[in-house]
Amino acid sequence: MSDDSSRPSDRDQEVARAAAGATTGSGASEHGGTTASEPLLQLKNLEKHFPLTQGIVFKKTVGHVRAVDGVTLTLGRGETLGLVGESGCGKSTVAKLLVALEKPSDGQILYKGRDVARMGRRDLKQYRREVQIIFQDPYASLNPRMTVGDIVAEGWSVHADIAPKKGRLQRTQELMDRVGLNPDFVNRYPHQFSGGQRQRIGIARALALQPEVIVCDEPVSALDVSVQAQVVNLLEDLQDDFGLSYLFIAHDLSVVRHISDRVAVMYLGSVVEEGTDSDVYGSPSHPYTQALLSSVPLHEPHLRGQKDRILLQGDVPSPANPPSGCRFRTRCWKAQDICATEPPALVDRGQGHPAACHFAEARSVVPVDVE
Ligand SMILES: Nc1ncnc2c1ncn2[C@@H]1O[C@H](COP(=O)(O)OP(=O)(O)OP(=O)(O)O)[C@@H](O)[C@H]1O
Ligand code: SF4
Ligand SMILES: [Mg+2]
Repeated sequence: MSDDSSRPSDRDQEVARAAAGATTGSGASEHGGTTASEPLLQLKNLEKHFPLTQGIVFKKTVGHVRAVDGVTLTLGRGETLGLVGESGCGKSTVAKLLVALEKPSDGQILYKGRDVARMGRRDLKQYRREVQIIFQDPYASLNPRMTVGDIVAEGWSVHADIAPKKGRLQRTQELMDRVGLNPDFVNRYPHQFSGGQRQRIGIARALALQPEVIVCDEPVSALDVSVQAQVVNLLEDLQDDFGLSYLFIAHDLSVVRHISDRVAVMYLGSVVEEGTDSDVYGSPSHPYTQALLSSVPLHEPHLRGQKDRILLQGDVPSPANPPSGCRFRTRCWKAQDICATEPPALVDRGQGHPAACHFAEARSVVPVDVE
């Protein structure tokens, strides 16, 4: 067990508590189910623009950070959608919008066909129970002053109907056991656990509320590679057992490949390519996806040297002042005049899956037999 000296901020814990469903309001709600063909979750042209302000006493809005700028995605029942992109492209903001920790500036989130923004108090409470989140830094999202048992059981104080008071300890220990933690450690504190074990505590806390969807915001990025695989395997097992749907966020395409049915690639607030695992890895068609894939290290020695190496020039532009037309054009080796004036739509231009590039063209970047 490690002794991590870093301390979580109050804000991180507040976010984690809110995500665990700590809303006010009471009572159960009737909840509609999805039809077989209807996605469980739909994001339609979702936008989140944070105001940029100046001045201390008299605050003046001088612009907006377009963190999420027109994201359309779907998540089916029992499906895992990987969401990948560089730091700052808006992945966590999508996650927070999904679990109602942020309100969209525009666009819609539909859950089982219903607009989350129009849900009443009772239904929103139910939504917050059914759509849970786990975070990149499990320590920052766990209250260091609470025992593991209290952390896992915390959501039941709001959703009391899930676990009657009598028997909560046993239920907590069952959950700990299910995620691979020793149930005898129920009275220990987060600092007494290793990074991987803390992530298991976060998973147990999410599971305690019997969710349908778990938004996994870079859940393994802070962990050692060997531990990453164990946590990903656990998430896959839980998905099979409980029929969960995952939005799995990562900045590395290799991490999401193992777990995702479909993958969406984000750049500067928008989705630039989307497809099945074999679409995105086998025939990436957007230059940004091709560059991201080319930076994934190959573990198979015999395949090294067979990879197409694409080095991206320049930094990611500021989301407060994104380039006109195609946002990727300042770093794109294929850019032409039209790219500065016309934003490319996210459509299939003959590659079999959508890519937001006027000149989308499938290119094999990594050998197909790479795991
Ligand atoms: N509350 C906020 N107010 C202002 N800007 C914000 C806020 N939250 C996020 N941003 C900005 O929105 C953009 C997207 O941030 P976000 O955290 O969603 O990115 P990310 O893809 O999750 O990055 P990372 O990989 O580093 O976690 C960034 O430029 C960030 O600075
Ligand atoms: S639209 Fe133009 S700038 Fe954008 S990715 Fe395609 S070629 Fe590059
Ligand atoms: Mg993030």
